[in-house]
Amino acid sequence: MNSDLAEIQTAALAAIESAPDGQSLEQAKIDFLGKKGRLTAASGLMKTLPKEEKPAFGQSLNLVRGAITAALEEKGATLQEVADREAIAGIDVTLPGREIHSGGLHPLTRIKDDAIQILRRMGFALAEGPEIEDEFHCFDALNTPADHPARNEKDTFYFDSGKLLRTHTSSVQVRTMENQSPPVRIIAPGSAYRRDEIDATHLSVFNQLEGLYVAENVSLADLKGTLVYFFQELFGPDTELQFRPHFFPFTEPSFEIDIKLHIAGRAPKWIEVAGCGIVDPAVFSAISKSRGDEAFSPDKVTGFAFGMGLDRLAMIKWGIKDIRLLIENDTRFLKQFA
Ligand code: DAH
Repeated sequence: MNSDLAEIQTAALAAIESAPDGQSLEQAKIDFLGKKGRLTAASGLMKTLPKEEKPAFGQSLNLVRGAITAALEEKGATLQEVADREAIAGIDVTLPGREIHSGGLHPLTRIKDDAIQILRRMGFALAEGPEIEDEFHCFDALNTPADHPARNEKDTFYFDSGKLLRTHTSSVQVRTMENQSPPVRIIAPGSAYRRDEIDATHLSVFNQLEGLYVAENVSLADLKGTLVYFFQELFGPDTELQFRPHFFPFTEPSFEIDIKLHIAGRAPKWIEVAGCGIVDPAVFSAISKSRGDEAFSPDKVTGFAFGMGLDRLAMIKWGIKDIRLLIENDTRFLKQFA
């Protein structure tokens, strides 16, 4: 072999062998095989050789290139191995992995989201109102007389100012009609407050979802169709409902809605899930007076309204026996919904 080539190979292998890291190895590659590298320069000699020496020189060139390339690869692999070993030094790969805790939505959030989604598909828009209310929006405008038991200090949280914590979300009906013109088709999920004795089915703060549809010629059939569809979407297409006549000051006629609950091993029973009815003309009169116009004149519009307890719906949907579980934030309970 040409002595220059032999010398280049020796020098290259020595440089590769002694390269302490990837960067020096890369430098060695450039020094010998790069465009301006020594082997590349030596291959330029080819031109100067007599014809009969060219094949032998070319063969030597290839051998040297092959040897250098192989040495580069081998050293690269060795350096990588060392780097990998350093990177995991001190890590015990036999330890069990860390648990990944996945979060989930609270059952109340889930039932609320489900309910909103179903009602939005039917054209209901979200509305809201304050939780600290006045007697006009919570009671008077809703045709609830001063001596009605719901207005009792024993049942309602009053502030010294005369304001109160709303006892139901029906007050949002009044606020919405004061601020929008018919047709109105809204739902209002939110908190309501009552001075109830706390037990497995009562809290002093709970969650309701109110609905109101006001337009021309809204009928009881519209009310029924809407709520049957709603509960069958929420609880399944086989859900049976009954509309049981009832009394609410702000609707006439009024109903409570029961759904038939099937629990394995027990006789099915009817359980109340909502109140509803045709908006009482007295409510429209109060709104007309408050607005000072006739947009909601009882001669022009009719409507239906409904209100339901979201806590109760969640309890039915998931068989939750105690309402307090919904506010205690006990992860043993909440984990089941993650
Ligand atoms: N506000 C009633 C309650 O808290 C529920 C209710 C009944 C709302 C009938 C309505 C309705 O809008 O029409 O018990």
